[in-house]
Amino acid sequence: MHSLLRGKHFITTQEWTREELEMVLDVAWDLKKLFALGVPHRYLQDKTLFMMFFEQSTRTRNSFEAGMTQLGGHAHDLTPDKLQISHGEAAKDTAMVLSRYGHGIAIRNCFFGIGNKYIREVAKWSSVPVFNMQCDIYHPCQALGDLMTIKEKFSNELRGRKFVISWAYAPSYMKPMSVPQSLILLMTRFGMDVTLAHPPEFKLMPEILKQAEENARQAGVKFEVVHDMDAAFEGAHVVYPKSWGALMTTQDKDESMAIAKKYTDWICDERRMKLTATDSIYMHCLPADRGYEVTDEVIDGPHSVVFDEAENRLHVEKALLALCMGGRP
Ligand code: CP
Repeated sequence: MHSLLRGKHFITTQEWTREELEMVLDVAWDLKKLFALGVPHRYLQDKTLFMMFFEQSTRTRNSFEAGMTQLGGHAHDLTPDKLQISHGEAAKDTAMVLSRYGHGIAIRNCFFGIGNKYIREVAKWSSVPVFNMQCDIYHPCQALGDLMTIKEKFSNELRGRKFVISWAYAPSYMKPMSVPQSLILLMTRFGMDVTLAHPPEFKLMPEILKQAEENARQAGVKFEVVHDMDAAFEGAHVVYPKSWGALMTTQDKDESMAIAKKYTDWICDERRMKLTATDSIYMHCLPADRGYEVTDEVIDGPHSVVFDEAENRLHVEKALLALCMGGRP
């Protein structure tokens, strides 16, 4: 197994081999055990991670920052208003300067058509690894934490399991497409039969769909797109109903929210959970719109693994940080 991950950027799981991703998961399990035992694991002593958040975050911000502390280093919690980015400083200059001060740069930038390009521009000029904490296209740390959770819940036996990522209605805000896109890319590679369900206006990016189809072909699994939530849930082992914007239909926020209102019945409730396999799990990356995307009975019920899922973000991110910012010189 390839063990030289020091210095590697993590922008999408697509750019990492299966073996490299398995290595991250192996380390994540080791770190999870050490964390549970209270055993120090200061693999990044005196190292600094610069975190740049262009949007709000609860899980990503706190798991990365806590993770750096537990690894013996420190994370700077930065937002554009604290940086000269707010005065238009170029990504190249920000990247080159932060590279001189520390050992890693992590970025969340979900602006549609901008976020991924910004992260790639920083990565181009950075001499330290760059981590994608969510962009307009990908949320690779979420997908990797989700894969870890699914492997735990199904004793690492994923082949033949039906994984469903479904659109669901949420009135709170227009959520990015990055979670469903990262999920269809990753779960097809790891041997699950993947079903993507959404109303017609909520398509994902065509190039991502093409990559997911190719991943499925290579892995010898199914990948299908349906427009019926009940049909998708039928016999599913993993259901992951969440909202995203109609960004391939309109980039106008109000218009997207108006389209979404036609589909308020796309909710994960107990009736729909009864359509799934008896040992099925309910997943959500959070934040969830309770009462809209999912009922309290489901998210707080016996199928739900949402808090294990949130916890695993910490372990996979620590593994990524330790391998890419530390590791074998
Ligand atoms: N799931 C997730 O990325 O949560 P935050 O937006 O709170 O970081």
